[in-house]
Amino acid sequence: MKILITAGPTREYIDPVRFLSNRSSGKMGFAIAEAAVARGHEVTLISGPVLLGTPPEVTRIDVESAEEMLAAVRRELSGNDALVMCAAVSDFRPRIQACHKLKKSAMPPVIELIGNPDILQCVKPQKSGRIFVGFAAETDNIHVEAERKLHEKGLDLIVANDIKEPDAGFEADTNRVILVYPDREPEPLPLMTKFDLGGKLIEFIELKAEKSHTN
Ligand code: CTP
Repeated sequence: MKILITAGPTREYIDPVRFLSNRSSGKMGFAIAEAAVARGHEVTLISGPVLLGTPPEVTRIDVESAEEMLAAVRRELSGNDALVMCAAVSDFRPRIQACHKLKKSAMPPVIELIGNPDILQCVKPQKSGRIFVGFAAETDNIHVEAERKLHEKGLDLIVANDIKEPDAGFEADTNRVILVYPDREPEPLPLMTKFDLGGKLIEFIELKAEKSHTN
């Protein structure tokens, strides 16, 4: 299969040296890309700014802002069978993005923000037979929030994690998640490496694709 994966944070510049961003090392998305290649798939990885090398045999597209990530996803989606939105996309950007460095004496005390597009919502009309997997990193009401996002964004699976747990995510090589589906009970998984979790997600995509071919 051809699988499109997003990873890492986005950056929303205030001026050329300052930005708003989200906490994300990119490790989860890169591990999914590696796992997909290991299972014989063709992978395109759209990544925000991260300090990670490109896994072998992965086609990598680097982006910075949410709008650049949206443009890349829109462009690449038609050539892919599945989309895994693992990126921590910034929901807002500064309304004014200065081309020149702002002197601290001229820095406004309040930065006005405007909303960024929701990438999954934007590409939902192009889903057709494609399989969409999303992520939800939460501190509260994990199940409720994951189910809301699963339905609102039209996903086949959402990977939810409680980021208050010490071993559950940021910068680590392991993750502890709950898989939430539209049509069956949530599946809590034990602590596992991000590579192994990536393998599970790719296996889900393979099985889902197989089922839709036989139906
Ligand atoms: N996502 C997206 N575009 C955005 C924000 C998020 O496509 N602008 C995707 C993420 O990649 C993830 C899923 O949507 O797969 C859920 O992201 P999350 O940040 O948890 O949810 P939000 O929609 O931002 O909701 P909230 O801020 O209410 O938690």
